[in-house]
Amino acid sequence: MKIFLDTANLDELKKAASWGIVDGVTTNPSLIAKEGIKIEEQVARICDIIDGDISAEVVATEAKAMIVEGTALAKIHKNIVVKLPLTRDGIQAAAEFSKEGIRTNVTLCFSPAQALLAAKAGAYIISPFVGRLEDIAQLGMELIESICTIYGNYGYTTQVLAASLRSPLHVAQAAEIGADIGTMPFKTLDMMFNHPLTDKGLETFLKDYAKAFAEKK
Ligand code: G3P
Repeated sequence: MKIFLDTANLDELKKAASWGIVDGVTTNPSLIAKEGIKIEEQVARICDIIDGDISAEVVATEAKAMIVEGTALAKIHKNIVVKLPLTRDGIQAAAEFSKEGIRTNVTLCFSPAQALLAAKAGAYIISPFVGRLEDIAQLGMELIESICTIYGNYGYTTQVLAASLRSPLHVAQAAEIGADIGTMPFKTLDMMFNHPLTDKGLETFLKDYAKAFAEKK
């Protein structure tokens, strides 16, 4: 499963990039707003840090305006993927972009039926939100499973990006189901490293080694 970081924060991206395991980045208008820098400028900086798909979301709500905005975003860098909301206009824009060979990430997906529409529109990526479904007491991972089944049934090439992953368990479950991509905040990625037995085992290895050579002196 490809690991994407769901952030527009450059320090987080640089730190995660140094670990050598980040395949791409997703951003959204809320994440961009948090950094206080215009999307065009911030995604260009992100493209300099991570060499992979970088999703940049439009804020227009009508198809025509989405196409204008998305076309400009796509020109910033070859790795930009235009992110569109799963609305009637968003799907219309995705279908147009698909004809033009511009890659899209259809976001805010909360049902298998919505995911089917994105695939029909030729979206490059579909983003179903796991955590936000769980916020309203629904099973987020069941959505990932249904979409993977539907896409598999018909051979749709749209990649399933499990979004709104908030814990290492979410990431592992999405990978077990077979999601193509998992996107997560820096905090979740950082937590994936942790295991008390790793810390304990390393401490013992180092102590044993130091003791053995201290004794031989
Ligand atoms: O960027 C989309 C998604 O990953 C947001 O996650 O935790 O805000 O629901 P969250």
